[in-house]
Amino acid sequence: MAIGVKICSFDFEVAKTTLTNKDLEKFLDTTDEWITKRTGIKKRQILKDNETSVDLGISAAKKAIERINFNPLDFDLIISASSAPEEIYPSTSCVIQDAIQAKNAACFDLKAACAGLIYSLNVARAFIKSGIYKNILIVATDSTSKHTDWSDRSTCVLFSDGAGAIILKADENDDDILDIDLMADGSCKDYITLTVKGKPCPIVDKAKENKKPFIQMKGKEVYRFVMNEMPPRLEKLLKDCNLTPETIDYFLPHQSNQRMIDALAEKLNIDNSKIISTIEDHGNMSAASVIVALRESIDKKNLKLPAKILISTFGAGMSAGNAIIKLDENI
Ligand SMILES: CC(C)(COP(=O)(O)OP(=O)(O)OC[C@H]1O[C@@H](n2cnc3c(N)ncnc32)[C@H](O)[C@@H]1OP(=O)(O)O)[C@@H](O)C(=O)NCCC(=O)NCCS
Repeated sequence: MAIGVKICSFDFEVAKTTLTNKDLEKFLDTTDEWITKRTGIKKRQILKDNETSVDLGISAAKKAIERINFNPLDFDLIISASSAPEEIYPSTSCVIQDAIQAKNAACFDLKAACAGLIYSLNVARAFIKSGIYKNILIVATDSTSKHTDWSDRSTCVLFSDGAGAIILKADENDDDILDIDLMADGSCKDYITLTVKGKPCPIVDKAKENKKPFIQMKGKEVYRFVMNEMPPRLEKLLKDCNLTPETIDYFLPHQSNQRMIDALAEKLNIDNSKIISTIEDHGNMSAASVIVALRESIDKKNLKLPAKILISTFGAGMSAGNAIIKLDENI
């Protein structure tokens, strides 16, 4: 058998401070009823000023390592998938490498917004299948709340701060990643934006004020993009793996909006009982969302293993990553 990829461990961390819809009502022209009805979100976790997404990433990585008692010196590669890292450089993966003492690992960051986890999974899979690396850590972590305009009720109610970490190993006898589908459409680049601007050389030009240093989102366009683009791709992915909405055990969509999640499942003819969602408690944690939802659902026994899971993630770019994975009973 060709070299396969084993999903050995995964875990997550979320920010400690909880912000409920009722809390938002105190400073925003919104209501718990509107947010619940339109998004399914009831609360979100928010970092304080002195807390960072790197702290969350390190904690998620340590938890994933402890679960299987893994020696961090055996990591060959660390990929960090943060949409908006704390620092442009050093890369988040280098900071995580130092914190977990994984000094033999090469490190780089991969940026594909909320699809970053599945993009990273495909890159890691290629490294493992080619025989280049054997043990890879992926960490998806974001502090989206720090990039949100807290007076913009159409975006700030959605996002939350969290991290997820996955450990992958080369396996001669098994392959947990059945297939992956990546896509991007740069013509939709202005649907979700977060602009970071440096300053020009003062001799050459005067610095202009960055008027929009926060997340800007065209919510309706995002919604339409997902509903149009994802179903045919997910149907093809299932078909390529000889699976159907009936034979797949669970559907794990990006935790963006419960209405969108339900509409996607309906369009795909996937039964409601197969949907994995923890959006009510966490909101949208960017690329970390699907790991948080998966780990929590397994730990709360809402998801029975072993299982074949259809994953769909999407976000700024627009970019999207879909995957079908299988998980063993003891993960
Ligand atoms: C953002 C989103 C929840 C908005 O829901 P919507 O049903 O499209 O709502 P609209 O934008 O049409 O706004 C309807 C009204 O509600 C208002 N509104 C928006 N946010 C509100 C809030 N938090 N509370 C109360 N009212 C709000 C709007 O101002 C608008 O008022 P108006 O009719 O007086 O102009 C929805 O478009 C969405 O979730 N899109 C996908 C975004 C996403 O998932 N992005 C992340 C992908 S990684």
